[in-house]
Amino acid sequence: PASRPLAGKRVVITAGPTREAIDPVRYISNHSSGKMGYAIARAAERAGARVVLISGPVSLTAPDNVEVRPVQTASEMLAASEKAVAEGCDLFVATAAVADYRPENRAGDKIKKTSETMALPLVRNPDILATIAGREDAPFTVGFAAETSDVARYATDKMHRKKLNMIVANDVSVAGLGFNSDDNAVTVFWPEGQESIGPDSKQAIADRLVVLMAEQNDR
Ligand code: PMT
Repeated sequence: PASRPLAGKRVVITAGPTREAIDPVRYISNHSSGKMGYAIARAAERAGARVVLISGPVSLTAPDNVEVRPVQTASEMLAASEKAVAEGCDLFVATAAVADYRPENRAGDKIKKTSETMALPLVRNPDILATIAGREDAPFTVGFAAETSDVARYATDKMHRKKLNMIVANDVSVAGLGFNSDDNAVTVFWPEGQESIGPDSKQAIADRLVVLMAEQNDR
């Protein structure tokens, strides 16, 4: 039915930043409040889905009836995503701002400021979305892309390269939208179409996204 387009579906969502430890007191991270991902979790639950929300460190309360599984690092987010997908998943939505690199070694003790400059070797983190989209039993996968220019080209490239069913391009060049704020403006692309949503509240955008995901997943 139109009011519960995800009835009976299982949805897994990643949200928030990841944190990659440098030493016991420092880390590398990205800007992300988790608001977009939590809004999608709330919308999907209201649309009738069973929702698992894999969340990096954020200061938001869990939406009603949504199972939150907290993680810190990209590696933990990948392991939690693979586990949740293996348990059963129809739609996977990656809103998380994952750190692309992590320190090669985590110092056991606090690093002392003894020299004027320091180099920190970094290694690539796994791509969670591409890993899930590449599975033999891949669910319908939805990626996000924070772009500042050539939004359509970069976003559709990412969709094809990562073998996604849908990509949501964020206009992060507009002040007051995107990271951390309550509002956003996005353009959604799927292989046969596109739709621009907003500027509007992240919750209103999430509600519309859930309808589009359900429509495309049912085709
Ligand atoms: O959390 P908010 O404050 O509400 O802000 C929301 C947001 C701006 C963070 C969100 O809407 C958003 O755009 N998230 C994606 C940020 C981004 O730049 O992603 P990306 O271009 O690095 O990655 C593309 C896609 O791959 C994303 O779906 C991302 O979750 C995923 N990815 C990226 C790297 C990685 N190692 N693993 C991934 O799964």
